[in-house]
Amino acid sequence: MNVEVKTEDTTAALPAGVFAETVLSVTHYTDRLFRFSMTRPASFRFRSGEFAMIGLMVDGKPLYRAYSVASPAWAEELEFFSIKVPDGPLTQHLQKIQPGDTVLMRKKPTGTLVLDALTPGKRLYMFSTGTGIAPFASLIREPETYEKFEQVILTHTCREVAELQYGFDLVNEIRNDEILSEIVGDKLIHYASVTREPFERQGRITDLMSSGRLFEELGVPLLDPETDRAMICGSTEMLKDTKALLEAAGLTEGANNKPSEFVIERAFVG
Ligand code: A2P
Repeated sequence: MNVEVKTEDTTAALPAGVFAETVLSVTHYTDRLFRFSMTRPASFRFRSGEFAMIGLMVDGKPLYRAYSVASPAWAEELEFFSIKVPDGPLTQHLQKIQPGDTVLMRKKPTGTLVLDALTPGKRLYMFSTGTGIAPFASLIREPETYEKFEQVILTHTCREVAELQYGFDLVNEIRNDEILSEIVGDKLIHYASVTREPFERQGRITDLMSSGRLFEELGVPLLDPETDRAMICGSTEMLKDTKALLEAAGLTEGANNKPSEFVIERAFVG
């Protein structure tokens, strides 16, 4: 089924508290993943790492899913990184969007993967799998991240090598940006691994942590609640297993109203 998105109709039917924005660009990475950008309403404020409810009119009704904003809080455009699920209620339609189409966004962002939810530390780990990299795409382009931490380690694990490409593109974009590259310097480390095909680094992040390989390769000490902070975003199982390793190392979970040593958020699908 093809979704008909007409700007006039959509806007006319808009409930209060919803923005109708214009798609600016779409990049397809694999048959499962794509990235898109859209206009940012002047009044939409969010903190880097938060998510918003994104939607389309489907069969005359608005349908929303939670999406981390992948662009940083200072950016003029909004960017998102999405999975494509063949029969996913929203993503079967969203994967077909083209520049000029309208995407809906609820006005209130939220989320726990924000710098304010962490107590001061030296090193910030961002553990992600699959589309769980999206909130970190925002945070690695946020100058405040580098004001607060001496070292920022972004881990990204996917089933296949092609699924890592968005992460590589992001890091290249930072390196090629005059202002950001100056701010980021050599503080950012991108640590990518793959689990279901050959690659220079194979294995789940939990296994790379347990075996000590992660810390050896980075040349850093084992996790320490004195110095290390972490954010986790991935599937429910990945969150559970990674959280257990952080807790075993003595780190405690925080929240917006109770900053601590790590925070977690599900990577949303559907
Ligand atoms: P694996 O291929 O061994 O399942 P998914 O697409 O299923 O969310 O998986 C994305 C990545 O997360 C895959 O590389 C997958 O590895 C890995 N993964 C899945 N479950 C866990 C877990 N419990 N802990 C750590 N990594 C996981």
